[in-house]
Amino acid sequence: MAYKIAVLPGDGVGREVIAEAVKVLKALKLKGSQEFIFTECLVGGAAIDEVGVPLPPETLETCLNSDAILFGAVGGPKWSNVAYHLRPEKALLDIRQTLGLYANLRPVKVYPALVDASPLKREIVEGVDILVVRELTGGIYFGNPRGIEKVDEEERGLNTLVYTASEIRRIVKLAFEIARNRRKILTSVDKANVLETMQLWRRIVTEVARDYPDVTVEHLYVDNCAMQLIRSPKQFDVIVTENMFGDILSDEAAMLTGSIGMLPSASIGGKVGFYEPIHGSAPDIAGKNKANPLAAIASAALMLRYSLNLESEATRIERAILTALEKGYRTPDIAQEGTRILGTQEMGDVIAENLA
Ligand code: IPM
Ligand code: MG
Repeated sequence: MAYKIAVLPGDGVGREVIAEAVKVLKALKLKGSQEFIFTECLVGGAAIDEVGVPLPPETLETCLNSDAILFGAVGGPKWSNVAYHLRPEKALLDIRQTLGLYANLRPVKVYPALVDASPLKREIVEGVDILVVRELTGGIYFGNPRGIEKVDEEERGLNTLVYTASEIRRIVKLAFEIARNRRKILTSVDKANVLETMQLWRRIVTEVARDYPDVTVEHLYVDNCAMQLIRSPKQFDVIVTENMFGDILSDEAAMLTGSIGMLPSASIGGKVGFYEPIHGSAPDIAGKNKANPLAAIASAALMLRYSLNLESEATRIERAILTALEKGYRTPDIAQEGTRILGTQEMGDVIAENLA
């Protein structure tokens, strides 16, 4: 059995952290005749520089012909002034839409060894285990009309927050299914006090909830949720929300764990599963062997679990991360007193060694 993996490192630290994730996957040594076949593709700014577009057709083709996609990060100051349709970020949005990846799962788990790395107090973050389920192919990111236009001599920017009932229903159902297999608490986040789209969202959540009497449902406005995440994050189990709210809340929730460099993600529900660390290309530390590769490595573990059905291998990687942290190994973003600071590559080596 050969597992075909499209590897899209992208820009900045994306390149460095994905190299470590691939290193760890290679070190797994699969059973019997199983193997990984990695195909590296251009994406983002790197693709703009090489071929003039952020998502070359060959990259999309390779993604569609793979069993899973491992993605680093895109973007950087070099490409921040190019036209909207040529921005590195457009590649990511086009992949999500073309592959139909409507569900983005972002687990926010506070590792015991990192409790004190969080800027929040130990008693607030200890034991936090949240899954953010972010809708990924709808909402204001993709709604039409959109653009910048001139009205009566003045420029006007325009975006549209739109969801169909079925788009809401499929993400909400998935969130209920996931909640059912966890602590059975689902928090739906909306802004139903102001936006009609979000009134529809809330109504559909209430409808779907009837099929899941075992799951406790709570509705929160997004501003309140942002506050509750800092005030008492342990109340949350699964959070389901629309695209842009999920983007913002997941960065906020990431800090509960100590660093955005710890958070993996899985984008599923479409043609091919897509796995990426939630952090960006971090141009300020790119190329310095300083980035934390753990989010990328943990994303590779999610890939094994959700797309390749290799649960025990996924667990092996997750245990190796846990062991490394418990032994006191850290990258600079999660450094604490009395710990050993490693570079990106050295952290990758430690995880690969810990697999055994
Ligand atoms: C994320 C990122 C992307 C998003 C950007 C890079 C387009 O912030 O995956 O969270 O906004 O979805
Ligand atoms: Mg984001």
